[in-house]
Amino acid sequence: MKVTIVGAGNVGATCAQRIVEGDIAEVYLVDVAEGLAAGKALDLAEAAPLAGHSRSVTGGTDYEGAVGSDVVVITAGITRKPGMSRDDLLQTNGRIVSEVTASIKAVAPQAIIIVVSNPLDVTTHIAREVSGLPRERVMGMAGALDTARFRAFIAMELGCSPVDVSAMVLGGHGDSMVPLPRHATVGGVPITELIEPARLEEIIERTRNGGAEIVGLLKTGSAFYAPASGVKDMVAAIVRDEHRVLPASVLLQGEYGLSDVFVGVPVRLGRSGVEEIVEVELNDEEMAALHGSAEHVQQTVETWKHLSSS
Ligand code: NAI
Ligand code: 2OP
Repeated sequence: MKVTIVGAGNVGATCAQRIVEGDIAEVYLVDVAEGLAAGKALDLAEAAPLAGHSRSVTGGTDYEGAVGSDVVVITAGITRKPGMSRDDLLQTNGRIVSEVTASIKAVAPQAIIIVVSNPLDVTTHIAREVSGLPRERVMGMAGALDTARFRAFIAMELGCSPVDVSAMVLGGHGDSMVPLPRHATVGGVPITELIEPARLEEIIERTRNGGAEIVGLLKTGSAFYAPASGVKDMVAAIVRDEHRVLPASVLLQGEYGLSDVFVGVPVRLGRSGVEEIVEVELNDEEMAALHGSAEHVQQTVETWKHLSSS
């Protein structure tokens, strides 16, 4: 199986490392910056004897190397600076994702596309529109990251292993994301029985601001280790046909009472892409929050339509 990763920056290169060193697939890295993808790919290839795998990893500036890809991950674009929202990246990244998707379509028309570039739900909308692929084959990675953050913060609070924490974050990848404390458990025990409501609200708020917290600390650039792990899980679920249930941004067509909008919900992922959109039972408050988040995504799509037509 072959995975092309567009953008050999922090997220793209770390995805490449996770995928080859996890023995999941061979990787082709592509980036507009001369030498960047080739250099990072060569460095990763030279690490192979030490990391103990035989996966090929190559890189370049052209799309010829992407021919025959089963999965393409789009991480190309700019990152936000402290004080910026993800939506502030729309004009630049919308254009980049649009161009990249057209290039990918020309060489790997059957590939499943996973978008990472922000603002995530809108760039995923753009990738689907440009590719014309069925909704099963175009998705965005964000819920995996937001859920990992929620699980990590719960584990930090309780002093337990993050591996034993199950949780779910739905909605758009922004301030309006919807962590679901009612559905979070530690070793099967609901966290609502383990953490006081006021403290739980602080953890939820920290999850919503998880991206900005890292941007504030790094000063230049944004998170990449946890995002790359989220991508790795999604790629593995697809290429290994694992049928894993993971959150992803997908086009809803009636599910959750929403239509024609990309938003994060649990999906079952396998070799054909999105095999099923899983509908979790939500109470009125959770459903209203999900609809509010979807409305924000829809408004940003309208902004994109305006920007791209002017
Ligand atoms: P980075 O700046 O380290 O890397 C971006 C790379 O994209 C650069 O190497 C640049 O040369 C390349 N690039 C720009 N235009 C290109 C084009 N037309 N074709 C090919 N390559 C191009 O940024 P980083 O940290 O890797 O983040 C990438 C994107 O992913 C950002 O938009 C960021 O906001 C987003 N992101 C989204 C997450 C999510 O949960 N969905 C998590 C983390 C980052
Ligand atoms: C994050 O949440 C940058 O959107 C990315 O860290």
